[in-house]
Amino acid sequence: MFRAAAEAETVHAHNHLKVLKGINGTEENLKQAIAGEVEEFKEMYPAFIEVAKEENNKEALWTFDVANQVEEIHADLYQKALDSLGENVEVSYYVCNFCGNTVEKDAPDLCPICGAPKSEFTKID
Ligand SMILES: [Fe+2]
Ligand SMILES: [Fe+2]
Repeated sequence: MFRAAAEAETVHAHNHLKVLKGINGTEENLKQAIAGEVEEFKEMYPAFIEVAKEENNKEALWTFDVANQVEEIHADLYQKALDSLGENVEVSYYVCNFCGNTVEKDAPDLCPICGAPKSEFTKID
């Protein structure tokens, strides 16, 4: 039920985004995605991390810290895609079930961000 609702919410989000003219060509989409990730790891998450530290909330701090590291990885992946736009490149991606780390080609033996084992990576088709 929740997956069905999530799918419906994705349809709604795409509808809203179309009205806002937020869906463009791949090059523009990638540039906007990079800008979003950069804002997240340079501004948004560092501010969240500061508040978590001030409040001595270690659990929140962990989630913000790993997300912050992964957003930088996403920016790099998008940049790589932008740089190879038009080339016929096929890459597999794996996502860490604990921290969201996103890697190309093959899952590492241990997640470099959170230490999770290879078996905790999900291949994205
Ligand atoms: Fe991201
Ligand atoms: Fe991880």
